[in-house]
Amino acid sequence: MTADLSDKPALSRAVDGVSAVVYGAGTVRGRRYADFLAANVAGVQSMLEALVDAGSSAPFLLLSSLAAGRPELSDYARSKFAAEQELRNHPDLCWSILRPPAVYGPGDVEMQPLLNLVRRGVALRPGPPAQRLSLIHATDLACAVSAWLSAPEACRHLTCAIDDGHPSGYSWGEIGEAVGQRKVRQLPVPMALLRAAGAANACMAGVFGYSPMLTPGKARELQQEHWLCDNSAFSSRTGWHPEIDLRSGALELFARN
Ligand SMILES: NC(=O)c1ccc[n+]([C@@H]2O[C@H](COP(=O)([O-])OP(=O)(O)OC[C@H]3O[C@@H](n4cnc5c(N)ncnc54)[C@H](OP(=O)(O)O)[C@@H]3O)[C@@H](O)[C@H]2O)c1
Repeated sequence: MTADLSDKPALSRAVDGVSAVVYGAGTVRGRRYADFLAANVAGVQSMLEALVDAGSSAPFLLLSSLAAGRPELSDYARSKFAAEQELRNHPDLCWSILRPPAVYGPGDVEMQPLLNLVRRGVALRPGPPAQRLSLIHATDLACAVSAWLSAPEACRHLTCAIDDGHPSGYSWGEIGEAVGQRKVRQLPVPMALLRAAGAANACMAGVFGYSPMLTPGKARELQQEHWLCDNSAFSSRTGWHPEIDLRSGALELFARN
């Protein structure tokens, strides 16, 4: 069945008899904190309430975000951290939190334009020259969810950021070589320009009523030197290991397109 996260009776029916809950709903676009609340925070609250009201002990997996580790940066990051806190307020439940970095793969619309540009030989680098970023292919993330479903108790109250296992993430040079299959040209995006673009886009979104991705908060996220993960705790508990590195993931992606 399908249910809107604001529809509490429907959520009660949805959790009836389930053996586990995987919460993958969310909003990654918004102009202010309120735009992220319904899907990222209130929905988690409602799902937890539905489980507790039903007396269910079904384990709960929250797909959070690497950004939740730095809630001060953006409204999105703050909302993902607030959602995690909802789980931490339920010590009696068996919950786990996965914090993916940027996810790419079939169906992705946020990373794809950047990867297309890299494929054409240009990498827009929003952070400092030493910037390193973790990535994960959607299939590896799906396999991680599946691994969790086989061993939720082993992951009880675990918060873990997982990636494709490439040591210390990727530099932009490495992203270029993996995706572009050659040395690509790195174009640094000046900090002031990125922040100005974020502010202008948020302003336009207010006027024209769309949900922006680039905001001042997103600009701050993009400018961080490191967004890195560590698979060890999750792998040791579940036996999950990523199988798709950026080179093979990009090859498959561009073979499809
Ligand atoms: N994409 C990434 O790179 C990335 C990285 C880290 C973490 N994450 C997290 O992963 C999750 C999914 O992200 P995504 O990129 O896959 O986003 P997405 O493609 O926009 O998917 C979001 C999903 O949430 C559902 N949803 C939103 N509001 C809802 C509501 N009120 N009731 C029921 N369902 C609702 C949407 O359903 P409808 O389609 O019906 O609207 C959609 O299926 C998010 O929590 C995000 O924070 C994503």
